[in-house]
Amino acid sequence: MDNATKTIEKKVETSSASKLINEKSTKYPESFINRIVCGNAVDVMKQIPDESVKLVVTSPPYNLKNSTGNGMKDGRGGKWANAALQKGYSHHEDAMPHDEYVKWQRNCLAEMVRVIPEDGAVFYNHKWRVQAGLLQNRHDIVDGFPVRQIIIWKRKGGINFNRGYFLPTYEVIYLIAKPKFKLVPKANAVGDIWEFAQDMKNDHPAPFPIGLIDQIISSTDAQIVLDPFMGSGTTAVSAIRHGRNYIGIDISPEYCEMAQKRIDQEKAQSRLSI
Ligand SMILES: C[S@@+](CC[C@H](N)C(=O)[O-])C[C@H]1O[C@@H](n2cnc3c(N)ncnc32)[C@H](O)[C@@H]1O
Repeated sequence: MDNATKTIEKKVETSSASKLINEKSTKYPESFINRIVCGNAVDVMKQIPDESVKLVVTSPPYNLKNSTGNGMKDGRGGKWANAALQKGYSHHEDAMPHDEYVKWQRNCLAEMVRVIPEDGAVFYNHKWRVQAGLLQNRHDIVDGFPVRQIIIWKRKGGINFNRGYFLPTYEVIYLIAKPKFKLVPKANAVGDIWEFAQDMKNDHPAPFPIGLIDQIISSTDAQIVLDPFMGSGTTAVSAIRHGRNYIGIDISPEYCEMAQKRIDQEKAQSRLSI
């Protein structure tokens, strides 16, 4: 048993008084550490003990099909005819009423913040967009959570379908941190604008570029990294490359299988290169 797993076990023992931990959490960590759990993010996170995971890195569904004007809504694609997400995800339509979506994401964030300790952090990726002619930032989702910084992820190119505003080329990563969170020495020098091209070789409709996650994980000393919207497994693969443990959750059995295959390939690759 490695040190990280021992630490978690200790937390399980010491946190048994917490009202947030239900009986199922006694299975933790065996059923979660270095596993992809196929299920609903909030339900699965509820089984993770308080303050037991130092780093959460995630990108939720953006609710892109609930949109005022780009054709994503009705599936035609409009000028986004080739957009991978025009059909939503395999097991999530990505078209909730806005208020419902915000409530859901706030519930997800509450769970993520609950599971990190006083020196832990959540890197929560999202996208701002123009809706009915006005900027829709994601303040309604993160309001009240301890947002410490907004990192700009500058993507390559994009599609400009509206002359009313400039071509959007960035997404944001909210660094939501508890008071004692610190980066490893010198990691702060990289600044707060990060440029990474999208991953075009992945069958998932909205994958992280792995470089982005490498940058986050290598900037921390977290031994366990949770991604409650794991998709194709990018966070897990990056965690393995950095010698960390992961916990991945996704609602789609297809994407869970995709993630597991990538993880197996990564492990096989690293065995070959020893
Ligand atoms: C933006 S994608 C994440 C992609 C991932 N970062 C990657 O690199 O492949 C969002 C993911 O959330 C998943 N999802 C949607 N609803 C979910 C839910 N209720 N619980 C868990 N996962 C969910 C989708 O299946 C999708 O894979």
